[in-house]
Order: sequence, then structure tokens, then C-alpha cells
Amino acid sequence: MSFARIRTLDEYHAAYEQAATHPDKFWGDIAEGFSWRRKWNTVRGGEFSPAGTSTWFEGAALNLTENCLDRHLATRANKLAIIFEPNDPKERHTRLTYRELYEQVCQMANVLLKNGVQKGDRVIIYLPMIPQLAITVLACARIGAVHSVVFAGFSATAIADRVQDAGAEFVVTADGLNRGAKQIPVKSVVDEALQSCPGVRRVLVVEHTSWPVNMQAGRDVWFHDEVQGVAKACPAVEMQAEDPLFILYTSGSTGKPKGVVHTQAGYMVWASFTFQNVFQVEENDVYWCTADIGWVTGHTYLLYGPLLSGSTSLMFEGVPTYPSPGRFWEVIDKHHVTIFYTAPTAIRSLMAHSVDHVLAYSLSSLRVLGSVGEPINEEAWHWYHQHVGKGRCPIVDTWWQTETGGILISALAGITPSVPARAGLPLPGVLPVLLNQDGTEIEGNDQEGYLAVKASWPGIIRTTWGDHERARQTYFQPYPGYYFTGDGARRDAQGLYRIIGRVDDVINVSGHRFGTAEIESAINESPEVVESAVVGYPHDVKGQGIYAYVICQNGLPDNDIDRQRVESSILEAVVANIGRIAKPDKIQLVSGLPKTRSGKIMRRILRKVAEGETQNLGDTTTLLDPLVVEEIVAGKK
Ligand code: PRX
Repeated sequence: MSFARIRTLDEYHAAYEQAATHPDKFWGDIAEGFSWRRKWNTVRGGEFSPAGTSTWFEGAALNLTENCLDRHLATRANKLAIIFEPNDPKERHTRLTYRELYEQVCQMANVLLKNGVQKGDRVIIYLPMIPQLAITVLACARIGAVHSVVFAGFSATAIADRVQDAGAEFVVTADGLNRGAKQIPVKSVVDEALQSCPGVRRVLVVEHTSWPVNMQAGRDVWFHDEVQGVAKACPAVEMQAEDPLFILYTSGSTGKPKGVVHTQAGYMVWASFTFQNVFQVEENDVYWCTADIGWVTGHTYLLYGPLLSGSTSLMFEGVPTYPSPGRFWEVIDKHHVTIFYTAPTAIRSLMAHSVDHVLAYSLSSLRVLGSVGEPINEEAWHWYHQHVGKGRCPIVDTWWQTETGGILISALAGITPSVPARAGLPLPGVLPVLLNQDGTEIEGNDQEGYLAVKASWPGIIRTTWGDHERARQTYFQPYPGYYFTGDGARRDAQGLYRIIGRVDDVINVSGHRFGTAEIESAINESPEVVESAVVGYPHDVKGQGIYAYVICQNGLPDNDIDRQRVESSILEAVVANIGRIAKPDKIQLVSGLPKTRSGKIMRRILRKVAEGETQNLGDTTTLLDPLVVEEIVAGKK
């Protein structure tokens, strides 16, 4: 029996048991439900940990877009694949059926081919949340190019870093974007980035806002020119199971963001299996994931998961509060959304407004609610449950990471327990453990520890682009025999997992990950700065806020004008090097940082001060200069 679709609690337990004891049979049976050019020789292979070289379905050949598009044409050609809701509610929404999406993906694939993109080439995609973003991603997959989407909020420097790291020669972008009331001249950001990327041969530009842009002769071309007369069919390139599908850059505790690599077959099976089972998707659902395709949630649960399942996926260009805090609910009402998947930070920002914004719309179509990206606090969970779900929609609190490809721990909607602030039980095929600092497994329930995973699953990260050693050292080496998540978790008395948060130097701001080292090196680019230390602190809406302690070049400013100049320069440096999304919420200018005699910054103390726990700073006697702490406490923001 295949457990492709789990419908009862008994089936969940049976599936969990089989996936744990006979994974080859379990995943082999599920993989039978896809369209393959050639079947696999082995279901699971490679060495999980510490080598970090897992393989899945090795020997198989396929094309993911045949599974997302071609195979639905027989039965779902006229079904809606994508509903696009624009930023401005006064503009008309657009809809693409599976046939239309197929044709547009093929045309885009032909345009990419015509412009020299070949199998294995990396294509950087820096586009607004418009249908062409989804189409370009799929077009890359159709011709075997490796897509790397960069969230269109990252700065020129961040784009350049990614273009260079990926060795990309092709960029797809647009003239501009509207996000809420903000306007971003996307093409000029790309132009600035490419000044340091001479290797880029072609920039394909999609017209969206019709703002004037510079087109560099010989490098930049308009999509609407290139697509003239191009065929609406394009043969899908045969890919091997372990060929790379995409690179997605994500922050870690050290260095620059790393390119997480996912491959074809395992990712496909994982995206589809988790999507259908977690959300308990039915044929007529209208599913809306509010994430941007620039993040992994958009990859797996806006695009690949839904399209692999033949579902209707809504794509939204805007933000929750534009033009009013009722926008999400208006869109749900307008398109009769049945499954809604968003982030706690969005819920918290909407909770701050009158509940009348929710009550103004009919949410009776809703059936399942989801949460992702960060721990959802109980207050937000109850508000979501009561006001949006009207007490009748199960909430799935889905825990996963860019590296895991898809959800690892979550309730299956309406089937396994959904308890506030608990991600819940692991999905079949996921063997989570709690580890002590020394790497021993903590047995039993009602326990807390480092969250790790004991065996490979089909969606696991395969490598970090161009540097396998970095992947090995980050995820598989810290606790040999395990995949290390970087999160701390608690297993409650019922065996449900509650994610506590990161145990490394990663800050989760509104569900987006930043390394403290990454923000510090951006701040240090300011000519006003000598040194900085960044920590996270609890923030009512964002989950965590960014608190920066900064030592200035010319000592502590003694007047407001100087202070403001320094602070603006710090903010500018962060915006230029990463993007607005990483701007510190609080900046405290200091004359020194608490360092040990060996020169290590004691972040524990800085974190406590930022959290407001100044009474209980622990032992400060090992510090080089304990007086620094008094100054920091006195100047706390
Ligand atoms: O700390 C966990 C948190 O987000 C991290 C992964 O971030 P990223 O790779 O950007 O992926 C976000 C979307 C999957 C995790 O290490 N996180 C994600 N989902 C949850 C969560 N923390 C608690 N509960 C969740 N449901």
C-alpha cells in the first residue's frame, strides 16, 4: 500500500512506522505516482552524515515541469493553475489555466534558449511577485538551468554577491516593482549590481511598471521583444535525479550567505508529499501562500508543491496592510480561498488593528490555516484561530528550513494534534532527536535540547554551491550521524515538538534569517564605525528585532546632530550591503564592547541587555574591562 495520501490518524501512525523501518519501500511506492523518463536504481544512497552526500532516486531521469505541467494537461488543462492578485486592488487580477501556464513557461524557456542559456547554467532571477517570476523559475527547470531567485528587496551588493558566487551569466529582472506604497526601481538596482559582475552576458527585462530604464546595448533585452514569434511548446530537457534544480541563498552564523542546493527528484517528491498531506489538499481548493518566491516557502509551497499536485495557487504581489489592514481578508473573500498559509509576523501586525477589518469580509471559504517561518506565540495563534478560522479551521504550524526543502514537523490538518505554539509531530520519514551539548540523544518526553535529525529524507540539502565542505561542517559535522538544525526545541509530555528558536548566531526577523556576523560586517562598512556587535531581542511584531552595539570612529558623539549622522550612516551601510529588511531596530553607540581577555565578545551579556534583563547579567569578572558593561546598561535603548 502507498501512503501518498494520509487521511486518518491510524494511517499517519502506520505511514510513520513504515517510513522509519522500510524507507526504500515507503518512498519507492510514493515516487510511483510521478512521471519519470526512467525509474531509479536505488531509492536512498550516499552517506547521510557526516559526509552529507545523501542521494535519492539515483539513476532516475525526469523533468520536473513535466510533473508540474504536462501531466495535468489531460485532465486539468482548463483548471486554474495561478491566480495573480496585484499590489493595487484597483488593478484587475489575472488568471492562468494549466494550459496557459504550460504555454507561457514554454515560451519563456524558448526565450532563455534563444539567449544562450544552456542546461546547468545558473540564472539569477530578481523579479517582483508577478506571474513572470513563477514562469521564469519553471522555464529554467524546463531547460535544466539552475534557478537562483533573489528576493527583490535585497540590495545591489547582495545581488552581486549571489551572481558571483553562483557564477551566473544570466539575469532576469523587471523595470520596477510596487510593494504596498513603496516603489523599487528594480532594473537600476540590477544595473548597479552588475557593475561588479562582468561575467553576466544577458539581462532579460520584463516590462511591469513601464518606468524608464537604461538598457545596456549588447547585454540587456526586453522580454516582450524576444518573445515575438516564439513557439508555445518547448521540449523538456531530461534531467538526472541528482542534477541541481535551484540554489537559494540563506544566512548562517558565519560568513556570507551560502547557496543551499536542492536537486530534482527528491525535492519533487518531498514538495508534493508534504504539501498534500500537511494541508490535506482536495481537488477544488484555492490555496494561498503569502510568501514571496524569493524565499524557500514560496519555492516549495507557492510554486512546486501546488503545481505538482495540480492545485490552484494564488500569488499576491502586495503586502498585508496595503491599502488597508483588511487586504488579506478581502483577497480571501474575493477568490474564495480555502487554504491560507502565512507567517506569524503578518498575523501579529494585523492583530494590532481593529478586528473589524477581519469581520468586514466573508471568510467562510476557509478550511485550513497554516503558519511558517518562526515560532507562533499563543496570543497570535488564538487570534488566528478565532477571528480568521472562526474556531473551525485547523492550524498547521509548520517547522522547516531552507535546507530541509519542505516541512519536517507539523500537524497534518485535522488529523494529527494541533496545539498552540507546538509544531507537533514529525512527518513520515523524519526522525527528529533532541541532543545534549555533547551530542548524546535525550530520551523521553518533557525534554529540551538541540534539534537534530537522525536519517536522510528526500528533500534534504545536498550541498552548498561550490563548497561542499561548508555544508558538511555546518550541518553534518557538529554531531556526526545527524543533520543539525541550529534550532533548540522541547518535546512536550505528549511527544509534540515546540520550537524554541535558534541556538546559533542567527536572528529570525519577521521569519527571515540573518547572521549576526553578516549584519555586523555591513555596519562596519560605514566610515563612521570601528566595530560592532549585533544581537536579537524579542520584538512584538517581528518576533525578533535587531539590536546593534556600535563603536564609532570618532568616539561617542556628544550632540544629537552627530549622533543622527552616525546612525544614518550605519543604516545606509546595512541597506546598501544587504537591504532594507536587515535594518537594525535599535542602535546603541558605545565606547567599548564586553570582551574576554582573549578578545571574544561576550554576546550573552549583550543579549541580556537588549532583552532588558539588566539585573541578571551573570559572571562578568572574566571581562577585560567590566566597566564597559555598566556603561552599556546605562545607555540601553
Ligand atoms: O528557527 C527556525 C525558524 O526559521 C528557521 C528557518 O529559516 P528559513 O530557512 O529562512 O526558512 C523559513 C521557512 C521555512 C528555522 O531554523 N522556523 C521556521 N518555521 C518555524 C520556525 N520556528 C518555529 N516554528 C516554525 N513553524
